[in-house]
Amino acid sequence: MSTNLSDVLYLIPIVTFILALRYLSNPATARRGNQIGAAGMLVAIAVTWVKAGHTSWWALVIGMIVGGGFGAVAARKVKMTAMPQMVALFNGVGGGAAALIALAEIHRILPLAGRPHIDVLVAIALSGLIGAVSFAGSMVAFAKLQELIGGRPITYPGQNVGNLVLLGTLAAFAVALSAGVQDQWILWIVVGGGALFGVLFVLPIGGADMPVVISLLNAFTGLAVAIGGFELENNVLIVAGMLVGASGTLLTLMMGKAMNRSLGNLLFSAFGQVSAEAAAVAAGDGGGTVRSASAEDVAVMLAYAHKVVFVPGYGLAVAQAQHDVRQLADLLESKGVEISYAIHPVAGRMPGHMNVLLAEANVPYPQLKEMDDANSEFSRTDVAVVVGANDVVNPDARSNQGSPIYGMPILNVDEAQAVVVLKRSMNPGFAGIENPLFYNPKTVMLFGDAKASIDALIADVKNL
Ligand code: TAP
Repeated sequence: MSTNLSDVLYLIPIVTFILALRYLSNPATARRGNQIGAAGMLVAIAVTWVKAGHTSWWALVIGMIVGGGFGAVAARKVKMTAMPQMVALFNGVGGGAAALIALAEIHRILPLAGRPHIDVLVAIALSGLIGAVSFAGSMVAFAKLQELIGGRPITYPGQNVGNLVLLGTLAAFAVALSAGVQDQWILWIVVGGGALFGVLFVLPIGGADMPVVISLLNAFTGLAVAIGGFELENNVLIVAGMLVGASGTLLTLMMGKAMNRSLGNLLFSAFGQVSAEAAAVAAGDGGGTVRSASAEDVAVMLAYAHKVVFVPGYGLAVAQAQHDVRQLADLLESKGVEISYAIHPVAGRMPGHMNVLLAEANVPYPQLKEMDDANSEFSRTDVAVVVGANDVVNPDARSNQGSPIYGMPILNVDEAQAVVVLKRSMNPGFAGIENPLFYNPKTVMLFGDAKASIDALIADVKNL
């Protein structure tokens, strides 16, 4: 196949990847986005195979059956709460592939006559380094999330300086390779050292911050793949890599903004460690009164309300209560109650966590309100039902400058006429801090597993 023809055909996957991202940005069209992206990828693989002059298709077909089979089984079997680690694995594999391409390319071009172009050598050095960092970092992120290793930040004196020195040394080797020290072992050092750096870079980051780290590593993988595209003169790799790199970068920044934490704070502050101190500085009114209610009391509040807003959080995912919440909402709607769901961008433990769970329960999309829209509705809400959310409804983020989450935008549920909080205990959420909302005179606590509590509410509302 001529390069011109393959470049024209490559426009198909390029356009479908862009369309896929467009569709993926809305829960209503996300499934179609996935299908369009997958179709584009199939075209990209087929064109690349033919372009490379391969005529026997069996190796390609076997590879796709093994890879596709693994992906399909993983997507079906892996629980929604375990998605972040699956994404970490898949992302790591992408970074590893970029590093392997760099090693294969240097092996191929060095014996050729003439000195390789500096741009090719720079691309090889960079994709080898960044791909290896992303691979090893993602594997540590996976191990932390899967609890194969402890999720707490692992820190030691001189850690950041040591990491910086390692990175500087690797950069020096990469420059040497690019400048013409033509030895394959230099790239092996860069790739091996990159993998070591990836491990050391992720170790000091707390397990619960892994989704943000994975998103950052995803941006690294995209960059490594795009650079790999320059090595191989493959336009579709360049575009796909840049799309992944740009969306990973945006997602990382958006998550940081929604948590009111800079990238530096996320990467270098060992956040998981602050729980104890954080709990101490938080002005949670531990001395206040907590009012606990029964399911019967809450059922009456809900059934006679005009407007009820459900506020899902991580506990909804743990309890897998999304179908039950939908059932309760339908029941209330049939009694004339106006229903909506308030979605905080970092509720749960991964981007879009709540949207995915509620989409699984076929919650009507118009009822899902993003944070700003939801906040404008709380003042005319009779009951805000907080289902396993904690930090994302903590008013300290608004008013307590000493709080570790001060400045983080939250859902202002305390503006509703009444608040019901469904959780199992008074234990804190991810940030490890007290929540004054629980002591607010407007708030009642319905203690118990969220699924069991919602089921009890359904039964009690039906009995009214
Ligand atoms: P959290 O603040 O983590 O609170 C979750 C609450 O759910 C806990 O207080 C827990 O209380 C309750 N819970 C757990 N299992 C439950 C069950 N089976 N039934 C009922 N309740 C249950 O959650 P959030 O409000 O969603 O906030 C998310 C936090 O994660 C934020 O701090 C955010 O910055 C952070 N974070 C988010 C992301 C993304 S991308 N979403 C990434 C990294 C970090 P009990 O134990 O008392 O039940």
